[in-house]
Amino acid sequence: MIGPAASIEIKEGATRLFVPETHSIKGPGKRVGRVFFNGQMAFNRDISVAFFRTQDFKGRKALDAMAATGARGVRIANEAGDDLEITINDRDAEASKFIQANIELNELSNCTANNEDLRCHLSRKVYDYIDLDPFGTPAPFMQACLQGLKRNGVLAITATDTAPLAGTHAKKCARRYMARPLRSVFCHETGLRILIGYVAREAAQLDKGIEPLLCFYADHYFRCYLRVRENAAAADVALGKLGYLIYDHQSHERGFSEDYHPGSYGPIWGAPIIDHELMARMSADESLEENERCSKYIGLWREELDMPYFYESNELSSMLKLSPPVLDGLLERLNRVGRASKTHFSPSGFKTDLPLKELLLHYPDESR
Ligand SMILES: C[S@@+](CC[C@H](N)C(=O)[O-])C[C@H]1O[C@@H](n2cnc3c(N)ncnc32)[C@H](O)[C@@H]1O
Repeated sequence: MIGPAASIEIKEGATRLFVPETHSIKGPGKRVGRVFFNGQMAFNRDISVAFFRTQDFKGRKALDAMAATGARGVRIANEAGDDLEITINDRDAEASKFIQANIELNELSNCTANNEDLRCHLSRKVYDYIDLDPFGTPAPFMQACLQGLKRNGVLAITATDTAPLAGTHAKKCARRYMARPLRSVFCHETGLRILIGYVAREAAQLDKGIEPLLCFYADHYFRCYLRVRENAAAADVALGKLGYLIYDHQSHERGFSEDYHPGSYGPIWGAPIIDHELMARMSADESLEENERCSKYIGLWREELDMPYFYESNELSSMLKLSPPVLDGLLERLNRVGRASKTHFSPSGFKTDLPLKELLLHYPDESR
């Protein structure tokens, strides 16, 4: 089969894809040509496939709302979604040609290509699952997607505007997400929790309540899978999980408070961001493109404590003027007096329920 003009055929996971000849393979991805494709997002799409394999979407309808080449929707349909009906949409007419070609290339009968602005489309249609994957911030599309979800549907969001959310552009974060970000060693966790908190507040306006299934940070983006319940009580429950981060830049002491205090950061989502029951069912097999990386992350998500912040071993070591300890040894030691885990946010970070003072008391001096 011949692909669209200036395309090449690649394989990602178990799916054949026509993608633009010139495309990004690393980093946040640039709009090289008119139709976007970023090879580095294979991991993000792998996790979508693994997520769908845990769900019972029999007879359900899904929308890949900003699909570009259709890579994600086509992979889900081909690798996990036999029983699912997927509409794969992009407002760009050139992208739509890639979507159609990729559906045909994989001989999929459960996919339809669509070429519309997602906001027009969602003013007429509703779905059980909507995937929102914009360039940068998802904020302008949030209301359309929340309104276009069926009762108890799932909303998946990618946000690549990590700089505002993680505190590099605080004013932009305030404009987009109505929140105060924090620049710190754990700024990416705060950024992700600001994003979830923002979606909770947007959903509450519609009497809908969110429940995080899997929310994570990887490479240069945030990704959330959220169940959206449609009732006012669920909205109130979700709003009750918002709060503020307290952070002392001198002592590095950190904490979470349900109430606003002058100088605090947020609002952030203060409750779990990973559903551990779902994680127990999620797995990666060799058919995925980045099988080993997926297994590693799934392992980290399973074990990660639900604290809304983490510590960096470098941060504490330089406070105590010690050399950084081996992480596994540190965790073993902390788990004797409290609870501690690795975190997917940083390879040298860890979470613990010990207050900072106690944590410092038990911090290993490996020179002794
Ligand atoms: C980051 S790309 C999507 C990448 C894709 N999901 C993947 O995995 O390769 C964003 C896409 O959104 C499309 N887009 C932007 N605004 C849109 C809108 N209002 N409605 C529908 N599509 C839109 C762009 O044409 C672009 O192809």
